[in-house]
Amino acid sequence: MIQAPKGTKDILPEDSYLWQWLEEIMRSEALLAGYSEIRTPVFEHTELFQRGVGDTTDIVQKEMYTFLDKGKRSITLKPEGTAGVVRALIENRLYANAQPTKVYYLNCPIFRYENPQSGRLREHHQFGMECFGAPHPTAEAELIVLLINILNKLGLSELSVNINSIGCKNCRPKYYEKLLEYLKAHSNELCPLCNERMERNPLRVLDCKEEKCGRIAKNAPLIIDYLCDECSEHFAFFKQLLESSDVPFKVDPFIVRGLDYYTKTVFEIIMQTDREGLALCGGGRYDYLVEELGGPDMCGVGFGLGMERILMELKNKNVPLPEAPKPTVYVINISKEDLPSAFKITRELRNNGISADCDHLSRSMRAQFKFANKLSVSYVLMVGGDEAKRGAARLRDMATGEEKEILISDISEYILNGGEK
Ligand code: HAM
Repeated sequence: MIQAPKGTKDILPEDSYLWQWLEEIMRSEALLAGYSEIRTPVFEHTELFQRGVGDTTDIVQKEMYTFLDKGKRSITLKPEGTAGVVRALIENRLYANAQPTKVYYLNCPIFRYENPQSGRLREHHQFGMECFGAPHPTAEAELIVLLINILNKLGLSELSVNINSIGCKNCRPKYYEKLLEYLKAHSNELCPLCNERMERNPLRVLDCKEEKCGRIAKNAPLIIDYLCDECSEHFAFFKQLLESSDVPFKVDPFIVRGLDYYTKTVFEIIMQTDREGLALCGGGRYDYLVEELGGPDMCGVGFGLGMERILMELKNKNVPLPEAPKPTVYVINISKEDLPSAFKITRELRNNGISADCDHLSRSMRAQFKFANKLSVSYVLMVGGDEAKRGAARLRDMATGEEKEILISDISEYILNGGEK
């Protein structure tokens, strides 16, 4: 028996309608704020992520699904959504349009070779939003406000919005000096990989998932204490915007994020009750990425939200969820001879925008009724018998048990009017 690869999940009909519900809410909020959808390929040249996400990150060093294609090109399945969007922005010259450029992606498959455990998959899906060409902190504040709206609409409250600033090219060198000094003094307590990447990118040590590195990271100097005036002002204004939008937040100076491209603002949203600290979403500003990938000097800011994690939280918290859609009408054929007529009526109902189904298994009338009950349909329409001779059929309202004869030509109107003609 072939099983699904470790860390992947089938989305079955019992859940897929919930995905569609999430998508609907996310899409409508994004559209309200002027974001348009972008779809980029599932795979890209490996170099895009090495340069974009950073070759000292855990994602690039340990987690990418990379392979040579038949043309011997190194290809990688998207380990995150932003780099592909930036590549598309540059390649399609979207930067030449009036700015800002606001895009979102929905249900974007993301692949990371992680240790599968609760909330960590090897294939997961993200809803993400990216805003380019907007240097002002209103851009990141807008994203946070949107996220809170979406999560609240889904029924998730008790959220913790954790923010930090990780500075820019001006303030980082001084901070890196201090951090490196501290890390070197603890090098024998750090994992071999951190020892290796410490000189090239000391910030990455603070993000290492190894427990011993985590202990050292706890007492390391913090970037927030070394921000230049511009970054401090940016962060202060960002906080002011959140306050005036009534979004409670917490400054968490330990957030550094696991991707190299961030500058200034970074943020994560987690459930207040989550002991594992699994973020529902993470994001931040990335003011150099477009240029580093060969585009013009153009800033960016965005977030990625894990769709599976949202669904997991909704279920954990027993949030009331929408009911699965079901057909409105089940069209029963009283005898085998009535099947063509039942089949035709089913089609007519569907053409009139009424969801309907009929028998496909040559079942007896009793078995068809039993199946209609299982489907929890609102109406059963019995086609055949004396009623058929009069161009009519019997309609049963399954909620009240009430039955009535009704002309076939009137059925759609009757149902669309909620049972009244
Ligand atoms: P990220 O924090 O790596 O950021 O991922 C974003 C979200 O994806 C996480 O908060 C989490 O909900 C979900 N996620 C991540 N890894 C997994 C996993 N293995 N299994 C299930 N869910 C997962 C990014 O990917 C950035 N590209 C976000 C961004 C967009 N920053 C700026 N723009």
